[in-house]
Amino acid sequence: MISGFSKLSKKDKINWLVDTFLQNNSDAKEVLKQYWNSDADLQRLHDEFSENTISNYYLPFGVAPNFIINGEEFAIPMAVEESSVVAAAAKAAKYWANRGGFKTEILGFTKLGHVHFTFKGDAQKLQDFFKDLEKKLREDTLTMTQNMEKRGGGIRNLNLVDKTDLIPHYFQIEAEFDTVDSMGANFINSCLEQFAKTLEHELNDSDFFALEEKKSLQIIMCILSNYTPNCMVRAWVECPVTDLVDKNIPADIFAEKFIQAIKIAEIEPYRATTHNKGIMNGVDAVVIATGNDFRAVEACAHTFACRDGRYSSLTHAEVSMGVFKFWLDLPISLGTVGGLTSLHPLVKFALQLLKNPSAKDLMGIVAVAGLAQNFAALRSLVTTGIQKGHMKMHLYNILNQLGATEKEKDYFAIYFKDKTVSHSAVVSEFHRLRGKEV
Ligand code: MEV
Repeated sequence: MISGFSKLSKKDKINWLVDTFLQNNSDAKEVLKQYWNSDADLQRLHDEFSENTISNYYLPFGVAPNFIINGEEFAIPMAVEESSVVAAAAKAAKYWANRGGFKTEILGFTKLGHVHFTFKGDAQKLQDFFKDLEKKLREDTLTMTQNMEKRGGGIRNLNLVDKTDLIPHYFQIEAEFDTVDSMGANFINSCLEQFAKTLEHELNDSDFFALEEKKSLQIIMCILSNYTPNCMVRAWVECPVTDLVDKNIPADIFAEKFIQAIKIAEIEPYRATTHNKGIMNGVDAVVIATGNDFRAVEACAHTFACRDGRYSSLTHAEVSMGVFKFWLDLPISLGTVGGLTSLHPLVKFALQLLKNPSAKDLMGIVAVAGLAQNFAALRSLVTTGIQKGHMKMHLYNILNQLGATEKEKDYFAIYFKDKTVSHSAVVSEFHRLRGKEV
């Protein structure tokens, strides 16, 4: 155990870690140091994003070009370590660019936060009291909401919610916010904490309640909800079934198998989890590249996916009057101002690349990345199988690990064109090529 670790310098932190846990690893310090940035200001910036930082953790920052979204062309930045995610997105982008591109629509743009509290007095009296309290809740948060209101946002609705059927004496102030282009977590949480103070103060001050009722009020917590079903975007693609030409499969059979694959994900949680994981491959990569909170996005998507009591697919597809339609409804709260957006140079770059989108625009772009990813995965799954593409990317990872030259990589691309890629097959051919014993 150590106390005061956070107060140590970076070097001392590393020394302590190496002495305590890594004595057998003579390279440990060098491994950490090789990721330090030589630009001291840039390094300080990264150090200060978090606490107890000892190095930087790189993720590949890739770009998937050729996305047509609502008629506009985009190259989408993606920060992701899994090989084939960016390639799959780019492939789906090109496929749909020739078939009308992607469309998006915002279906809702508000977020909720709650003051969770218990009250052992008369519930009806509390409801009546809340009617007058609402005005005061808005007044007391004016200093916080004024700026947001200038930008077109602010507090939308305030409700008292009686949850006593689920937990005795449990109520909520449920507040609905529009945070415009910011994710708004700090704004929402600050407003909620002020609501709690106002509630306590006004209830204690009122003649409406007996002393016992006043004393029974207990604020449990004030926090935004990362579940944002009213902050929702739809992304979709559509084209005549006959345009779904594929060298591996007739168009109508492709549409049939594709829709069947989605139906399976709609009713089978084992498949739905993997299906949605594929969607989140695209979603998270853009969310991370643009400096947003991928944990919040993940939590929200999965809550939504099981809103009917069974975990289900986030995407859907149908054929109607000969037209194939494939869509994703994604509840997602994003920011294009605040947070990392003006601090992290790569995040700034990513947002510029995306033409400095509003939060609503970014919701659309992220949903498109998720839909494209799901399309690419399902297209492979119902035609060639997923391993063909995956193992091709994996081949390059193995060759990189082996230190293959560019010329050797070209050789292997041809060598494995008609063979199944496996780790041992690559290693053994590599050693044969270099004339070593296998
Ligand atoms: C792999 O990261 C994602 C997939 O498994 C998604 C899917 O099965 O739909 C390919």
